[in-house]
Amino acid sequence: SENKQLDQKLAGHQVLITAGPTREPLDPVRYLTNRSSGKMGYAIAEAAQKMGADVVLVSGPTNLDCPDQISCIRVETAEEMLKAVSAEASKSTIFISAAAVADYRLKEVATKKMKKQGSSLHLELEQNPDILATTSKANPDLFTVGFAAETNDVIEYAMGKLKRKQLNMIVANQVGGGKGFDKDSNQVDILTDGGDHISLPETSKQQLAFDILDVVCQFYSKDQS
Ligand code: CTP
Ligand code: CA
Repeated sequence: SENKQLDQKLAGHQVLITAGPTREPLDPVRYLTNRSSGKMGYAIAEAAQKMGADVVLVSGPTNLDCPDQISCIRVETAEEMLKAVSAEASKSTIFISAAAVADYRLKEVATKKMKKQGSSLHLELEQNPDILATTSKANPDLFTVGFAAETNDVIEYAMGKLKRKQLNMIVANQVGGGKGFDKDSNQVDILTDGGDHISLPETSKQQLAFDILDVVCQFYSKDQS
């Protein structure tokens, strides 16, 4: 229909979404993070709510306000995000992992402000947990959707992540050269565990959110039948 977003296609669903970057502290005044704005995840949260879902948004630090009628949980680090997601996942039917989770954190966080010393600084990092893979493997009935933002070999890398993380669907997009991060519009390809490949047209992140959720609805019902 013309007003796709007004169809209550997600009525009865609890949709869990992660968005934004994570922030990994070095010391009390410094941190490691990335350029994620959170816009895509917030747009999906708003769209899911308008499509009738109960929405829980677990967000890293962003400049965005919590959308109306959505339950927002603010976190900073990947470990905090995993904790919040794990607590919500078993109550949810769909998990959409739009957060740009920092792959690494400091092995040891300094409790006092670090002082400058010498001409170079070596930081030891350790890997963060994979929130999406952990959640998908712990909740086999949850419909899981990942994102893959890549500068190159987009489809190949996305396919690898779909399989490795045991997802139902992955949303792949090209970033770099003015595309993707911190932009208002986006173009994505969706890959499913059944081998489907859907290319969505370039559009605003608001419209794209509805388009992605329409594809989720289409394959969610296929999965259940
Ligand atoms: N993701 C996650 N937890 C992590 C890393 C990634 O939940 N620690 C999720 C992201 O939210 C996204 C998907 O996994 O939905 C793919 O993220 P991406 O960074 O592209 O994949 P990685 O497995 O981290 O691989 P790499 O960064 O090496 O390409
Ligand atoms: Ca990563």
